[in-house]
Amino acid sequence: MADRARVGILLSGRGSNMQALVAASRAADARYEVVLVASDKPEAPGLAWAAGQGIATFAASPKGRPKPEYEAEIDAALTGAGVEVIALAGYMRLLSPEFVARWAGRILNIHPSLLPKYKGLDTHARAIAAGDTVAGASVHLVTEALDDGPVIAQAEVPVEPGDTPDTLAARVLAAEHRLYPAALDRFLST
Ligand code: GRF
Repeated sequence: MADRARVGILLSGRGSNMQALVAASRAADARYEVVLVASDKPEAPGLAWAAGQGIATFAASPKGRPKPEYEAEIDAALTGAGVEVIALAGYMRLLSPEFVARWAGRILNIHPSLLPKYKGLDTHARAIAAGDTVAGASVHLVTEALDDGPVIAQAEVPVEPGDTPDTLAARVLAAEHRLYPAALDRFLST
């Protein structure tokens, strides 16, 4: 079997999508392994979970310093770990054009809407307010603009009568956990 792609995950919070990616990477036929989980938030619960799984972790706080300096640290950690593809999983910071250019075509993100609808935050509230009957999640390649790169996979879920942003978010999140590992695996097969 060919070597598995070395994936680095960036997150800012709980990391449930990261956990789904790690779980799927343990399948015998997975096309990738997660070699680093890095964060802009040293206290992110996802980092602690990854460390507990024996996965290398890295945290760099961007607070009070120039973005290039912060991003250079993240970049060095990713490069040092031999990362080939970056998966953003709830990473709540816009990457600079310079960073994106360095990793062009090798950064994926998951976003909780059916892009191009509802870029940015509060996607579920916006879908409900619009009266949408279908919601979902998208995996896309990352470009300079927020939530804007080419979509490579989507999953749909119904919006149920009486849904709140929280109930819809939970339904979408379950779909995200299936979608992201499958999309990454397929991306790596092309
Ligand atoms: C997910 O809804 C993802 O689509 C969005 O941020 C959330 C992260 O959740 N980008 P988690 O940290 O993966 O649990």
